[in-house]
Amino acid sequence: MTALTGPTGTTHAGLLGLGVYRPRREVPNSEIVHLIDSSDEWIRTRSGITSRRFAEADETVVSMSVEASRQAIEQAGLTPGQIDCVLVATVSHLLQTPAAAAMIAEQLGATPAAAMDVSAACAGFCYGVAMASDMVRGGSARHVLVVGVEKLSDITDPTDRSTAFIFADGAGAVVVGPADQAGISPVVWGSDGARFDLIRQEAFWPPKVDPDPESVKGAHVLRMDGNPVFRWASFEMAKVAQQAIERAGITVDELDAFIPHQANMRITDAMARALKLPSHVVIARDIAEQGNTSAASIPLAMHRLIADGQVKPGDLALLIAFGAGLVYAAQVVRLP
Ligand code: UT7
Repeated sequence: MTALTGPTGTTHAGLLGLGVYRPRREVPNSEIVHLIDSSDEWIRTRSGITSRRFAEADETVVSMSVEASRQAIEQAGLTPGQIDCVLVATVSHLLQTPAAAAMIAEQLGATPAAAMDVSAACAGFCYGVAMASDMVRGGSARHVLVVGVEKLSDITDPTDRSTAFIFADGAGAVVVGPADQAGISPVVWGSDGARFDLIRQEAFWPPKVDPDPESVKGAHVLRMDGNPVFRWASFEMAKVAQQAIERAGITVDELDAFIPHQANMRITDAMARALKLPSHVVIARDIAEQGNTSAASIPLAMHRLIADGQVKPGDLALLIAFGAGLVYAAQVVRLP
């Protein structure tokens, strides 16, 4: 039988660079409350959010990603031409096809990198990092750019009490590539499609022939049954995070930081309590000024901790992300 050459990659993969884009416009709770009969106090107490950022017309999913990616590639000491694959985690690129990833690769000058979008909602960044790590170790790419980006303000109903105050915009990117030691632990991930309806767009795309305008009105906006999602995340996700720590071969005492998806400050607190995080573990709380930016929230929160000097390159951080699907993913990474 004729032998085929199989793929060969590197033994270890890690995060080589990080970049972010925070939209210019800061939106305090006071700007949101009047349309949803709410109050600054309710939003702070129930979610921990004091303000968020909404992107303006010129700050698109693609442009925010390109800016964050340039920083990540530069920090990795690479040029865009050295990127072999671009993975973009997003649910708010408004074209189903072509993928935002191809446009981002083109604008970066990363062509002819392989390019695709990853639809795993708020878990998308951790899904992307897991796949990138396997690509580098499997040999299908040497350097993978993973972007988490959302412009949720485009698909949020400003009069919806359960989503208007929570969702926000931004982008974060990392470069995953070869490393001297393991920089990304095995992922623990999964889905629970029985709860498909909890965070959703209301309708399928309008059919080609004679769509009923009433049936598709507002179909693009996100709806969320917040409380069941809150309970699922608060109780089930700590177990997933615990498994990720075990699969990384470390103990909770060896962690330096906990960087969960910035869904709700109370979910972060509940997970930290369930994991019995020691007091030296720094907890990311970027949601206070950034809101819930879905796939972008972990790289944004990671960047904030590094910029504030609360953690340093090489520190071990537990990541966990969860959202619409329902889907989830967790891993331990060495910070870039
Ligand atoms: O990002 C990926 C996944 N998403 C998440 O992880 C988000 C998970 N969910 C949440 O973070 C929370 O469910 C929310 C922050 C969205 C809501 O908080 P909650 O504690 O679950 O509130 P609730 O929906 O159970 O409502 C509690 C009360 C109700 O009033 P009564 O029945 O107790 O009198 C609501 O009518 O709060 C009321 N309420 C509001 N009040 C002021 C609901 N929304 C609002 C609002 N402003 N926006």
